[in-house]
Amino acid sequence: MGRPPRLIVCVNERLGSGQRSCVGSGNLDYIRRVRQMLADARLDVPVVERECLGHCDAGPVMRIAPGGCFYTEIDDACLARIVAELQAALDAVAE
Ligand code: FES
Repeated sequence: MGRPPRLIVCVNERLGSGQRSCVGSGNLDYIRRVRQMLADARLDVPVVERECLGHCDAGPVMRIAPGGCFYTEIDDACLARIVAELQAALDAVAE
């Protein structure tokens, strides 16, 4: 049995740097929405906030762990893919 999935999300604002950041690119709204989508789908997946995932210029960024790919330049279609991947990961753990 594999480890249960979690969703890692970037909440970095890079204040004062003048550089692109996930919060500056709207990730707080995407995080709120993906939490709601997970709740609506009744998926018990932790959403873990991190200060940076190392892909700041491609934000907003999220990642499924363990072992999942990075989702960059998050948009609505990405959120649906993330929820579907989390569902598949949960199903795999339950098998
Ligand atoms: S600011 Fe989000 S990955 Fe660095």
